[in-house]
Formats: sequence, structure tokens, C-alpha cells
Amino acid sequence: MSPSPHSAHVAIIGAGIIGLSCAWELAQRGARVTIYDTQPPGRGASWAAAGMLAPAYEAAAEEGAHPRLFDLCMESAALWPAFAASVSRASGRNLGFSPGPSLALAFDGAEAASLHRLAAALTRHGVESDMLLPEAVWDIEPAVSRGVHGALRLPTDGQVDNRAIVAALIAALHAQASVRFVDGPAPLEERKGRLCVEGHDMILAAAGWNTAAIKVRQHGEEFSLVNWDTALDEIDCYGGQMLSVAREPGLPSMTLRCGGIYIAPKPDRVIIGATMEPGIVTDHADADTIAQLRGEAARLCPAIAGATEMETWAGVRPGTLDHAPLLGATLADGLYVASGHYRNGILLAPVTARIMADMMLDGTSGALASTFSPARFAAATA
Ligand code: GLY
Repeated sequence: MSPSPHSAHVAIIGAGIIGLSCAWELAQRGARVTIYDTQPPGRGASWAAAGMLAPAYEAAAEEGAHPRLFDLCMESAALWPAFAASVSRASGRNLGFSPGPSLALAFDGAEAASLHRLAAALTRHGVESDMLLPEAVWDIEPAVSRGVHGALRLPTDGQVDNRAIVAALIAALHAQASVRFVDGPAPLEERKGRLCVEGHDMILAAAGWNTAAIKVRQHGEEFSLVNWDTALDEIDCYGGQMLSVAREPGLPSMTLRCGGIYIAPKPDRVIIGATMEPGIVTDHADADTIAQLRGEAARLCPAIAGATEMETWAGVRPGTLDHAPLLGATLADGLYVASGHYRNGILLAPVTARIMADMMLDGTSGALASTFSPARFAAATA
């Protein structure tokens, strides 16, 4: 039986945006929470991200994606305004949140065809988007190159300053008496067939691409968590390299996208991304790769070519084969998972938090949430 929401004590392993958002939601509902991480909170994929909240561009026409991923992304996008307001209020910080729109650009026939495919996919989902001629593009965003053929305006695709939301969540959680941060690994062990962290009622594994490798003590030895549920092995790593430049005249004020390139302006910097490197744990940004990214971004917005570089970095996205997260109970008694958010970790944080709190505190799971259970991978290999 699920513990009463007012007495549950939850151990969360992983202090990225997913672990932090789950902690926030659980604490709001009356649970006590301990958050464990061996790294400083929020310094993994959430820090490396670009903060785009992009259900349309990332999920509407994504080949091979989970059939309900777009619905999950849209549900989370709808939660973002209230989520941002509550974290902003609690922390007293500005999060750079904007509900949209973004512009997807085309500079040749193939890119224009891809925008038409995206528009058609959105129409099938009942979502509006507008195809714009170049003059209309420049009216909305003068920073776009004169070479643009057209654009798709995506009202659903917004953004937030990912580093600001993570810092705000950390500050808001530190102010909660019911939440504790532990700098180190969770003392996770198996006792009488159940996974436990002493003093806690249940455990949430939210350690991004490291989730399967979380350590468990059993009979005095350490084993990886994947031994308790092989579905966790579906979480793979997808490296990414990026850069930021200073906000200078001629740079865009809204998010621009074209193929795999994006330009995401934040209050104090403009982020340009990103490489997509399956199976790679990228730990540094390579100068040639960064120069190539900047060159490709300058095709969208010429002022990028000469903008002052602020920072280059690399990060690792945790992804699954169907590009959707694992959300729910694992095969290990006492253990839940929320991980594998691929390119949508920031976007999916509020809906993940709500789904996990519903499951862990109330024992409920809606029809949409149930389709993201880790059991979908066990079923596929059975
Ligand atoms: N969401 C953008 C990226 O993962 O690069």
C-alpha cells in the first residue's frame, strides 16, 4: 500500500532537473525528500542544455519516437507557465521563461519540404502552425538571414533559461524544511528482496544517463542497479557540444531552428547548438566542431559569425530507443525511475514530476503516463 502523502519519505538519486522537479512536486504534496548526487546539483545534462521547450520541433514528426511522446511533451508544455511561476515565486528569481513562439527556418528546397512535413504532422495532431514567407519572417525576427526561403512559426515552442530554472529549483528546495541535499551516493541496498535507503519509504532513480550504473549494496558487495531491472539498460548516452555568444546587436531575440542547428537567446547569452553524438560521453568541446556549429548557425543569422564567444561546453543527453523517458515503477520492489528524457529533459520536467508524484504518493497512473512505463522495454524483449 502507498504511504500517506503526509508521511512518505522519498530518496531521490540524481539532482538534475528531473530529480529536482520531482523533489519540488513531492515536497509540495507533503512528502519528505532526500536528494543524493555525487556531482554538484544541476551540473549535468540540465546545465549543458539549451532550455528549449519544443514539443512541435522535437516530437511532432520525430521518426521512431514513442507514439505518445508528442502528447506527453504537449502536456508538459501546458504545465510550464504555472511551474515556472511557482518556482520563480518561491526562489525570487527570474527564469527567462517564454511560452513561445519559435521559428523553424528553411534555406533550400529540402529544408522547406521538411517544414511542410512538420506542419502536416502538427495538423494531424490538431496543432496550429503558420508557414511564413521571407518578408513575414524578417518582420518577426530581423536577425534572420536574407537568404531564408520561409519559416514555420511554432506557437507551442517556447523556452526557459535552463541554468536559471535549475538554480532557482535548488534555492527553492533548500528553503524547504522537508527537503535535504546529500553530496554523495545514496546508501542503496537490497534487504529481504526490497531495495531501500535507510529511513526512506521509496526510492526514485533519476540519474540521467548514469541511472543503470547506480550502485546497490547486496551481501556486502556492490552491484549496478541494472541487475534489478534490465529496462534501465535502454538509457543510452547522446553527447552534445555547444557554445554561447554575448547578446549583441543583430542577434535574434527568439529561438531559431534549422535541421539540427538552433540559436536560443537567453537574458544574458545566446546559446548555439548542438551536435548529436550517439553512444558518446563527450567531456569537452572540440574547437573544430564548435567552429563548424558557429558556421552553420551563421547561415541562419549572419551576425553569429562575428559575435563574441562566451563559453563552449559538452554534455550528455540520456536517451532511449523511442526517444521517450522511462517513467514508473521498476521490477525492483521499492524503486521507481524517471530518466531517459533524450532531448526533452527541460520540457518534460513538470509533467514528469506530476506523474511520479501521482504514482509514488497516490498510487495512480493515467492512461498517458502508463505508456511510458519501463515495462514497455521488458515487453519488447520478452
Ligand atoms: N533539446 C536540444 C538538444 O538536446 O540539443
